[in-house]
Amino acid sequence: MSNFDIFAKDIEIINRKAEELMSYRHDNIVVDAMKYSLSNGGKRIRPLLTLYWSSITKGDKDTALAFGITVEMIHTYSLIHDDLPCMDNDDFRRGKPSCHKAYGEENALLAGDALLTDAFKILSLTKTNPDNISKAVFYLSDFAGVDGMVGGQVLDLSFEEKTPSLPEITKMYSLKTCALLKAACVLGCLTGEDINNEYIEKAENFAQCLGLAFQIQDDILDIIGDEKLLGKPVGSDEKNNKPTFVRLNGIEKSKDYVEDLYNQAVGYINDFDNKEMLLELIGALKDRKY
Ligand code: IPE
Ligand code: IPE
Ligand code: MG
Ligand code: MG
Ligand code: MG
Repeated sequence: MSNFDIFAKDIEIINRKAEELMSYRHDNIVVDAMKYSLSNGGKRIRPLLTLYWSSITKGDKDTALAFGITVEMIHTYSLIHDDLPCMDNDDFRRGKPSCHKAYGEENALLAGDALLTDAFKILSLTKTNPDNISKAVFYLSDFAGVDGMVGGQVLDLSFEEKTPSLPEITKMYSLKTCALLKAACVLGCLTGEDINNEYIEKAENFAQCLGLAFQIQDDILDIIGDEKLLGKPVGSDEKNNKPTFVRLNGIEKSKDYVEDLYNQAVGYINDFDNKEMLLELIGALKDRKY
């Protein structure tokens, strides 16, 4: 039994809702490419985080599903672009040929553009309070844009040419990885009647610890992971001369830090009711193999 089996039912609901939200008026190769990349294989941890933070804040589940899927769409676009030859140049993703390998670079580029744009269309159409939608638009664009994930990818690329310090690597991870996890958690806090800033602050701190742990694990798996389980190539970081936390500190010290970060994340939710599934998710991520 895999660590993630306990989430199977929620993942199925997420996947069904994603299909429903992604039914387009037009049918073309870019729509096929979008569906190909979105529909296969991902762990769905971002929409799960949105759902579980929504439970903590007693939000509306349908709204959480839609909000979570918008984060997953942006995450998927970031992976499509991340795999392009001009970035990490990786040929496999989620156990299948990367989007540009299956559909060509031009269509992969456009599929990424469209997933990003359509995420905001879906947000705008969510049946909930307009104030919640407008806050969700702000947080999602802020965490995904140049002050968030895109900014992290800029640092990631620039570091191929230099040897960054540990604080510089931490900043890069905070932007490229923690930011979208923050978006997922914060959007979950925006699905109820009242928007409570204490929840939002805790969600951001929680996601910061989770994201650092998650990215350091990703770097460890890039060295010692099993390509078949991972569904993406190992050795990508070395191939691209990426400086990582693990290359600076070694695997054992990195594993200890990952454990420490997950424990810190738990500290941010301990006082909340309805935290059980979030704790399960941390438990499953702690020794993830993919
Ligand atoms: C991969 O994210 C990119 C990183 C931030 C390390 P995931 O490991 O969540 O990828 P999927 O969605 O499960 O494919
Ligand atoms: C996270 O970094 C990438 C994104 C923000 C898309 P990686 O480049 O390490 O992610 P993987 O290993 O290709 O999934
Ligand atoms: Mg990358
Ligand atoms: Mg990559
Ligand atoms: Mg990686």
